[in-house]
Amino acid sequence: MNSFVLRSAKQCVVNGRSYGTISGVRTVYGSAVVGRSVELSGQRNGGLAFGGLEWRRMMSYAPASMEKAPLEKKERENSAAEDTKGEDVVASSYWGISRPTITREDGTVWPWNCFMPWETYKADVSIDVKKHHVPHNFVDKLAYRTVKFLRVPMDLFFEKRYGCHAMMLETIAAVPGMVGGMLLHLKSLRKFQHSGGWIKALLEEAENERMHLMTMVELVQPKWYERLLVLAAQGVYFNAFFLVYVTSPKLAHRFVGYLEEEAIISYTEYLEAIKSGKVENVPAPAIAIDYWRLPKDATLKDVITVIRADEAHHRDVNHFASDIQFQGKELREAPAPLGYH
Ligand SMILES: [Fe+2]
Ligand SMILES: [Fe+2]
Repeated sequence: MNSFVLRSAKQCVVNGRSYGTISGVRTVYGSAVVGRSVELSGQRNGGLAFGGLEWRRMMSYAPASMEKAPLEKKERENSAAEDTKGEDVVASSYWGISRPTITREDGTVWPWNCFMPWETYKADVSIDVKKHHVPHNFVDKLAYRTVKFLRVPMDLFFEKRYGCHAMMLETIAAVPGMVGGMLLHLKSLRKFQHSGGWIKALLEEAENERMHLMTMVELVQPKWYERLLVLAAQGVYFNAFFLVYVTSPKLAHRFVGYLEEEAIISYTEYLEAIKSGKVENVPAPAIAIDYWRLPKDATLKDVITVIRADEAHHRDVNHFASDIQFQGKELREAPAPLGYH
């Protein structure tokens, strides 16, 4: 029995809760998991129990094959298979590190290494997607007009190619949380101060955005020139955002707040195209079904709906972060919205 299992067994004794099985041993994710999983380990999340039925629902099976991208699906199957056999390839390690088999309640293997069952959640789709922060001052107006200006070339380039547009948007959207989280982390080290949970909250946002990208990539395969565009955009955007965040975090967060508002508009257009039949409502990718705990017959429309809800939450977090600093306070002085989806 390896040390991971021993640690898990120890936690089980301490917490007295069990949510799943790892290598046949009842295992607890309670105190070992922070942030959004605190809500999960609280046994209720969004009004639904995490254990029992909810657990089984979360562990959905892969959907029926997607007509539009058979080759990509094959690659995904290979990738998932690789994930599950990885344990066999690295059966033991001199360093004591191995990924134990995490199983569903029905005994089937959890196929993802990139996220674990306790990191999944049900999106709060009841959030108001029309909320808008009216620009009040120079910083607000600068942020707002910059975002609106940047939207023009994006719309011209992608036109009605909603999937490509969304995918490219996600490559940009996943940068600010990582830059902000990294800078707050360094500040915490420099100043010997707690971050108030904001490091984790911003990194959660970055990870959530990255999962949007991983989902969109299952639906749309980027062309070579789009990959080139991502490379160039990331080089410019990462450095520019880094400088803005160092100079004026309140401008940086306001900018992201408006960027999220634009993302909501883009996903609303995407949804309308699906509803009108312009875009085929294909089955949801398996990764999306597991990550958002969607029903196994979920479709693209369900996926875009939950992603849009995520964007609305990011909008709130970033406008909130900017507001805190406009009040002359530091982020750490206000509670970080950990696990806010
Ligand atoms: Fe996103
Ligand atoms: Fe977002």
